[in-house]
Amino acid sequence: MTGMTCLVTGCAGFVGSHLTEALLAADCRVLGVDNFFSGHERNMVAFRHAPAFSFSRRSVEEPDLLPELKDRHPDLACVFHLAAVVSVPYSLKYPEETTAVNHAASLRLHAQSRDLGLAAFVFAGSAAEYGDDPRLPLREEYAGPATRQLSPYGQAKYLVSAGLEESGFGVSLRCFNVYGPRQDPQSPYSGVISQFMSRAVAGLPPVVQGDGGQTRDFIHVDDVVAAYLTAAGLHPQFRPAPPGIYNCGTGRATNILDLARLILELAGNRAEPAFGPNRPGDIRHSMADTSRLAAATGFVPGVGLRDGLARTLAWFAARV
Ligand SMILES: NC(=O)c1ccc[n+]([C@@H]2O[C@H](COP(=O)([O-])OP(=O)(O)OC[C@H]3O[C@@H](n4cnc5c(N)ncnc54)[C@H](O)[C@@H]3O)[C@@H](O)[C@H]2O)c1
Repeated sequence: MTGMTCLVTGCAGFVGSHLTEALLAADCRVLGVDNFFSGHERNMVAFRHAPAFSFSRRSVEEPDLLPELKDRHPDLACVFHLAAVVSVPYSLKYPEETTAVNHAASLRLHAQSRDLGLAAFVFAGSAAEYGDDPRLPLREEYAGPATRQLSPYGQAKYLVSAGLEESGFGVSLRCFNVYGPRQDPQSPYSGVISQFMSRAVAGLPPVVQGDGGQTRDFIHVDDVVAAYLTAAGLHPQFRPAPPGIYNCGTGRATNILDLARLILELAGNRAEPAFGPNRPGDIRHSMADTSRLAAATGFVPGVGLRDGLARTLAWFAARV
């Protein structure tokens, strides 16, 4: 399925820029859209001038965005919709703006993709759709109408995933904690790994919020990209995912204090982790049941935590 024309919304972001690179490497043509709300021009350096890439600085809130792109590129066949307000604290402060982008614009893009007869629509769902459900590992069906998400961010993601599932068109990949190069440590809700790493490479101790006994399911961005390609039927090794909702994680829980120590070790930093106050509203544990995606497509993540951290650390170290 190489040669396909794809739209990637959020192409200047952390995950979207890696996905764009992978699609271009698979000989796809990529139409990238981003309004630089949280993304950066620097994330696109590797492909900004690639002949098969074209960029539009536009918002996914523009109602005519997809019909216009389809008019100009009649071979557009696949939408990867990653653009979103990604900060949970921001979503709590600005619920209406978050809902407009993450819910209303996402549902519109999904409906337009179906009505325009596109072959695939893949949505960036999130583990936040499960709220603080304590049943681990989290199975896709645990998030339902009675689930109380902890933020407008989680609620919007859930409503889009549920709408997509009901329509029988498209795939929602509910990603757990993604990490890897280009994750922005400056952003107010950046991943804990990027925060720990930016301090570790500067010779500072990572600051663990709370007692460090929290656990998370960390998945490397290369695996997430492979899952996106699989979902759209573009991965040479895995079967395409039938429409529906799929967790995208590793099924392994990592303790935050152990994570801090491992990052210090890999960075050759002899400091001990420091401790700060608990993050308000932080959930204690989160881990994916990964069996649905594995059974449907054969997809299994391939990057081990130690290896993935070492590669990510090399990127952070090169930036200081
Ligand atoms: N990183 C994670 O751990 C994680 C986990 C679960 C889900 N997700 C989801 O994956 C997607 C990508 O996340 P990320 O970590 O790469 O975040 P990111 O902030 O790096 O990327 C999001 C991109 O969307 C763009 N954007 C925001 N609003 C826009 C708008 N109205 N119009 C056009 N572009 C807009 C931003 O500028 C940014 O480039 C998001 O939908 C996020 O919710 C991420």
